[in-house]
Amino acid sequence: MAYRALYRVWRPQKFGDIVGQEHVTRTLQNAIREQRFSHAYLFSGPRGTGKTSAAKIMAKAVNCEKGPAAEPCNECSACLGITEGSVVDVVEIDAASNRGIDEIRDLRDKVKYAPSQVRFKIYIIDEVHMLTTEAFNALLKTLEEPPAHILFILATTEPHKLPATIISRCQRFDFHRISSAAMVSRLNEIAHSENLHVSEQALIFIARLAEGGMRDALSLLDQAFSFGGNHVDLSDVLCITGAVSHEWLAECAGYIHTGSAADVIDVVNRLVLKGKNPEQFLEDLLLYFRDLLLYKTAPGLEEIQGRMALDPAFKELGDAYDQERLFTIIEQLNRSQNDMKWANHPRIMLELVLIQLCQTLQAEVAFHSPAVTAPAENAGAADMKMGAAEPLRDLLQRIQALETHIKKLENKEPADEQKGSASSRRREPKKLQSTIKIPTARIREVAAQSYANQLAKLVSIWPDVLQRVKQQSVSLNAWLQDGTPVALSENGLVISFKTVIHCETTAREDNKKVIEEVVKGIINRPVELFTLMENQWREISGSIDSSGERASEEPKETLREPHLEEAYKLVGEELINIID
Ligand SMILES: Nc1ncnc2c1ncn2[C@@H]1O[C@H](COP(=O)(O)OP(=O)(O)OP(=O)(O)O)[C@@H](O)[C@H]1O
Ligand SMILES: [Mg+2]
Ligand SMILES: [Zn+2]
Repeated sequence: MAYRALYRVWRPQKFGDIVGQEHVTRTLQNAIREQRFSHAYLFSGPRGTGKTSAAKIMAKAVNCEKGPAAEPCNECSACLGITEGSVVDVVEIDAASNRGIDEIRDLRDKVKYAPSQVRFKIYIIDEVHMLTTEAFNALLKTLEEPPAHILFILATTEPHKLPATIISRCQRFDFHRISSAAMVSRLNEIAHSENLHVSEQALIFIARLAEGGMRDALSLLDQAFSFGGNHVDLSDVLCITGAVSHEWLAECAGYIHTGSAADVIDVVNRLVLKGKNPEQFLEDLLLYFRDLLLYKTAPGLEEIQGRMALDPAFKELGDAYDQERLFTIIEQLNRSQNDMKWANHPRIMLELVLIQLCQTLQAEVAFHSPAVTAPAENAGAADMKMGAAEPLRDLLQRIQALETHIKKLENKEPADEQKGSASSRRREPKKLQSTIKIPTARIREVAAQSYANQLAKLVSIWPDVLQRVKQQSVSLNAWLQDGTPVALSENGLVISFKTVIHCETTAREDNKKVIEEVVKGIINRPVELFTLMENQWREISGSIDSSGERASEEPKETLREPHLEEAYKLVGEELINIID
């Protein structure tokens, strides 16, 4: 016997076979039962959700020799003929294939004649949005005064492309994506009748991939059976789709949570050995984290329920992660996904971003709670097995040393500025005056010659500068967060800081170099970086403002283009607000 695809064999033959569209089928059945149906219906909705099937069932139900009935009998010659496509009064027009000109012209001539074989003449026009204007106009004429024996069923995946004049003449039904649960139960039923065995997990996974389209789900099931024989389980489905097993995703998400870079790299190794591709993995991981975020915000969503049914670790991970961190991770994965499109070595890119994700945690831990006093995340970070723990420990020690240093300073110079509560002081080091010497004369010069315009633009794209710095050094990014650019001249940039450690660390020669390079890449010219404390800046800028020599020779348009263009390229036009 010739093989027939499951989705053809299992085309619904009665309203009761159509799953997930009860809001449509019930209304249609009531209308038929009461013999009060409209002359034109519009079925809209995503691919493979049952629009064409419903149209054919409707054609049978109104024409069934034992009807009109809420369900066709599928036995009489009318029903059988319509199923076969041999009844001339039931016409299926595919607007996508020939845009319908001939058919619609034909239709206008023929609608006036009574049907020859059955009760109602029925026109099913699929992908109706594809009709030409001419065909639309012809259709409209007919819809305006439909003869009593005519029924139109228009179907489309893109209702917004239909002229309002057509829509307003139809009774409209929106087909929904089919829920995962409804899909799983229908797939189960089909597999059972075909004497095939398929695991629940495999079905849940297929339903996820099909995104609410039953035809796609059935095609996947088909492929899985031709691959796995009469027994299909999750691994078969993963194999044919190239998707990555949730176990690996969960494992990976777990290691990122504890910052275990070595283990994450091990997962990548195993993936590559198994022949999975890094792009796909990144995509799946991105979706995984997106679902974790959804779990935190809307745990009731069906998708999320499906994920939980599939993956025992999911809920645990969802509870362990905090929302803020998930945002950061998703952002970063998303960015790398873009970068990866141009990468020569996608695997290295993948490893890079995963290590970065592990290190973000380290930087956060180090940054927010330098005193290493306990909390859960620290415990995780301290567990780390690989060399990555070394720089972290080093960083923590350096911060502790600085803290002790500050405490000493605080004790020497009491009653400085604000008196924060003890707890707030622990989180955010107290604001102090810097003890480092600054090249006051040079800074004054930069301040005096600062271009207000350019400075404003630099400030507006500052988050992007920080982002680029972060790509080079996560910890430097953390220090620089505290700073604000306050002056930008032809060859100098001044950044003022609220806290001393941040100011001093940023001023270190190696750090300065990184920032200078990044800024140069954005504004297209080299500038020397100067850092100072807010109060120092107030003093310097105050003296300049009153002398009134500032910004007088600002070039109007000359410098605008290159770095502005660059900024547009980097962050997109809509995000840049130019203050002139
Ligand atoms: N709601 C549903 N219930 C059961 N099976 C369905 C359903 N929707 C689709 N199917 C399955 O998918 C196949 C295709 O469905 P159908 O042609 O009715 O979808 P459609 O909405 O018209 O899609 P398209 O927009 O691509 O034309 C059917 O043969 C059937 O096997
Ligand atoms: Mg269809
Ligand atoms: Zn019948």
